[in-house]
Amino acid sequence: MDNKIAFAAGAQLYTVNASDRLCSAIQPFIQEIFNYLSGSTDFEKAILHAKNKHKKIADLFFDIEPSRVSESFSLKKQFLIPPENPLAGLFFENAKIPSFLGQKGFEKLQDTTLLPQIKQLFYLCGQSNLSYQQICQQVSDRTVDLLDRWLKYRIVREQPHDLQNIGDLSVPGVVRLQHASLLYRSKTTGVLVDPHLHSNYGLPTLPSDITRTKLEGLVDAIVISHSHYDHWHYPTLMMFPADIPIIVPKVPHGTMTCEDMAARLISLGFENVIAVDWYAEPIRVGDIDIHVLPFYGEQPLVPEYDRPKYPELRNWGNTYLLKTEDYTSWFLIDAGNEPEHSMVEVAEYVKQKFGSIDSIISNFQPLSYNSIGTNLSSWGIDIVANLLSNPQIFSVTNQQEGGYISTLGPQGVAELCAVVKAKACLPYAHSWAALGSYTSDDERLIQATQAELQRLNCATEVIPWHIGDGYLCNSKDSNCQPIFA
Ligand SMILES: [Fe+2]
Repeated sequence: MDNKIAFAAGAQLYTVNASDRLCSAIQPFIQEIFNYLSGSTDFEKAILHAKNKHKKIADLFFDIEPSRVSESFSLKKQFLIPPENPLAGLFFENAKIPSFLGQKGFEKLQDTTLLPQIKQLFYLCGQSNLSYQQICQQVSDRTVDLLDRWLKYRIVREQPHDLQNIGDLSVPGVVRLQHASLLYRSKTTGVLVDPHLHSNYGLPTLPSDITRTKLEGLVDAIVISHSHYDHWHYPTLMMFPADIPIIVPKVPHGTMTCEDMAARLISLGFENVIAVDWYAEPIRVGDIDIHVLPFYGEQPLVPEYDRPKYPELRNWGNTYLLKTEDYTSWFLIDAGNEPEHSMVEVAEYVKQKFGSIDSIISNFQPLSYNSIGTNLSSWGIDIVANLLSNPQIFSVTNQQEGGYISTLGPQGVAELCAVVKAKACLPYAHSWAALGSYTSDDERLIQATQAELQRLNCATEVIPWHIGDGYLCNSKDSNCQPIFA
């Protein structure tokens, strides 16, 4: 049998835009502030110290008024709310190849006319059933050059078609993929959530993983929750057809905190991008109704600094409730509370409209911005961009975990389960792990959530599930079984 081109095990791909590049450029200045704050609580002195060390960055990019240093400290408005935020480049490497061999590639993406061609290359390689020649016939010479570099750096390989065993998905239900990705299935239709394949956030040493090939034929639409990088990965999206429906949050104005996701997808060549208001009429895909609901919480706000510099600087997102003939499931991603809104108000709406629901699926991690620490190297560049929308937060990043949690945490998850009388509650978005395994935080967080449910006298059952497991609606009951192993 002929070998076909497919993405290789260990391949990792990611893109950067102009705001990401800016964040990288100013990172030494921000780290300098944090270095100072690790031994002092004087924010003003920390800013002035960093300004002294990185004068050029401070002058070019930041507002710092001498008479009110800490209050005025901000990235300049034209960088916080840039008139445009073009893509800058695509990075690719294979994490299984030792880094000292220097097999790391980069493709400039400034020429926007090339983006749909590059998207087409992702799609054709993602098909995993085309030969090198067949792909070359369908793309431009410039794109063939990129394909050749992908082959050289082992991003794609010629390999036999990946016919892997997949569990029985004729039964409706939801499958836990890596990190924040889910695959919902009804009897006829599939909806993929926040897909992240060949991720540079992943674990390249895993013996096997979810691949594009394994998802073939199972996905009729994709939904995106929010633009944090671990949920919003263009390289994965580009592996799907240009006409697949993709539902994204509606962003009134693109900013450094949250780009205009619909506009970005259209620029990449996607033809069926859907962005509607919260509480709009459901979007029907096959026999699944997708209800778009608010995503409150996970804003870069703390009690001491509870307003962003400009109101446009919001981490826009959606939670989604999927209604099928067999079950109703609401997934909450990294939602939580913010000064003026809480997910409890959305839960009250869900209770009114749908009565009790079958499952809530949520990140259980209690995350707070005021205890994020001062080591920038452990943060994604998107989190740096988020913090810059309210940079006074820097002054409290070394504080003890407080009561101000920007996600739901076990307490918030239990509270919502009680409001909507969910039959089951399942954890996800706790990072990557081997197929068939829990993530390192699952068991601890499940126990904590069970304790909170007990405290509320709530009958919701927490369902432990591994990466790759499906929570399926069998004839009488729902239960878990391996799907991707
Ligand atoms: Fe997030």
